[in-house]
Amino acid sequence: MKDILEKLEERRARARAGGGEARIEAQHKRGKLTARERLELLMDKGSFEEFDMFVEHRSAEFGMEKSRIPGDGVVTGWGTVNGRTVFAFAKDFTVFGGSLSEAHAQKIFKIQDMAMKARAPIIGLFDAGGARIQEGVAALGGYGEVFKRNVIASGVIPQISVIMGPCAGGDVYSPAMTDFVFMVRDTSYMFVTGPDVVKTVTNEVVTAEELGGASVHTTKSGIADGSYENDVECLLQMRRLLDFLPANNEAGVPEWPSHDDVEREEKSLDTLVPDNPNKPYDIKELVLKVVDEGDFFELQEAFAKNIVTGFGRIAGQSVGFVANQPMVLAGVLDIDASRKAARFVRFCNAFGIPIVTFVDVPGFLPGTNQEYGALIAHGAKLLFAYSQATVPLVTVITRKAFGGAYDVMASKHIGGDVNYAWPTAQIAVMGAKDAVEIIFRADIGDAKKIATRTKEHEDRFLSPFVAAERGYIDDVIMPRATRARIAKALAMLRGKRVEMPERKHDNLPL
Ligand code: HXC
Repeated sequence: MKDILEKLEERRARARAGGGEARIEAQHKRGKLTARERLELLMDKGSFEEFDMFVEHRSAEFGMEKSRIPGDGVVTGWGTVNGRTVFAFAKDFTVFGGSLSEAHAQKIFKIQDMAMKARAPIIGLFDAGGARIQEGVAALGGYGEVFKRNVIASGVIPQISVIMGPCAGGDVYSPAMTDFVFMVRDTSYMFVTGPDVVKTVTNEVVTAEELGGASVHTTKSGIADGSYENDVECLLQMRRLLDFLPANNEAGVPEWPSHDDVEREEKSLDTLVPDNPNKPYDIKELVLKVVDEGDFFELQEAFAKNIVTGFGRIAGQSVGFVANQPMVLAGVLDIDASRKAARFVRFCNAFGIPIVTFVDVPGFLPGTNQEYGALIAHGAKLLFAYSQATVPLVTVITRKAFGGAYDVMASKHIGGDVNYAWPTAQIAVMGAKDAVEIIFRADIGDAKKIATRTKEHEDRFLSPFVAAERGYIDDVIMPRATRARIAKALAMLRGKRVEMPERKHDNLPL
């Protein structure tokens, strides 16, 4: 019996040793942790239960039968994060460069299937060289099985991908179909084809970092939702993110104890909006003053900064925030901002997370760049996402809500449940001067007349009251009372139910 037990321990130790000491040391030298070290940090202490540590590849091509390493380049299992079940797989770069074989893929989709059965989130840690070249089509088949499951799980359980090393070829598409992608700065990169192929095909010379580093995907492509300095910071932030997310689409948002009074008034908000309507102010100040304990998990902070998205809590429950940012491009809606916010709104709606929208938007960004880039279709995504949302929608207009952007930003007309405005709100088709120069074109040469008419227009139309008179705005509220009014609205909406017509699926303008 003792022998048998020892043998088990031996086999476990062999699996835990991964690709061996030298490769582990190389991993550490690059500033990266190993797959198991990462999982230990991600999960509550001692909670990780590993699956399939004895699985080996079955390939006999290119002499592969001589090198089998238990675990086969991926560590899979489940554990808890602050007591809540989470499934995970972590690619082990020390074993065949974390490359995906048939057996490796089977380990991943087994855990995907388990996560779906248990209706709990799944998180994948990527650090790998793509398809196991020696396995050829068997590896491609494996990827396909993983992709299909990503899609089936989409909107049912939260799926998070964290890129902590190379992520190329077949490895990029699974993250792309999950809800969130995060990266570690300087040690991770993500691209479909690497620098060598790029050089051969297009003659461009780029480094891996320039092609697909964290700086590219958090600022240019918008593929990544955030990046962190190192593995430790990244994994601790993933724990924080998971605390905001429901376990699945039917579980409802998690509730954490909060010591922040929902009635808390913030007098400083009364002077947040400057007297000059063209002067910017930081909308994040409003978000931070409204959420519990100032705790806001911002997504895509460095991409399309003219709109802010992220999670906070009110009365201990998760809320998704969308806010135009007057500090960047005056808060205008452009292609990137529309895409960013649309994706976020759809995530919240899929998982039953209420959405609070802060509006200060001068309209959509004009120009050939935007029109040629299909601003119409991208703007429509945001309009579509909000119109389709059946979760509680609370909207507060702080200043400008002009033109089509007024309709788009969770207005009453497309499904806003509770729509408030601050006294500084200006809800109109466009700014006063632009409006006067169109309707009184004949007076354009007469500056005095134009000024008088502009003032008349401002007094009549650039206020919240024209909309409030029609019931498009439910109340004009004191800025200082914003948190309390939102909290009450969300409490009232807790049991909200809206039926949508039966259909196979909608046809979102992609
Ligand atoms: C098998 C691989 C591998 C792979 C790396 N290794 N990638 N083994 N299949 N795809 C092995 C190496 O042989 C090496 O083994 C170990 O992992 C570490 O790799 P190194 O090259 O020494 O590391 P490094 O210099 O850090 O470079 C990492 C890398 C590079 C940039 C990821 O290994 C690389 O370019 N790999 C190939 C990437 C690739 O072309 N993948 C296929 C993509 S096609 P030893 O034993 O020496 O430690 C694809 C199509 C799928 O994925 C499409 C599905 C839709």
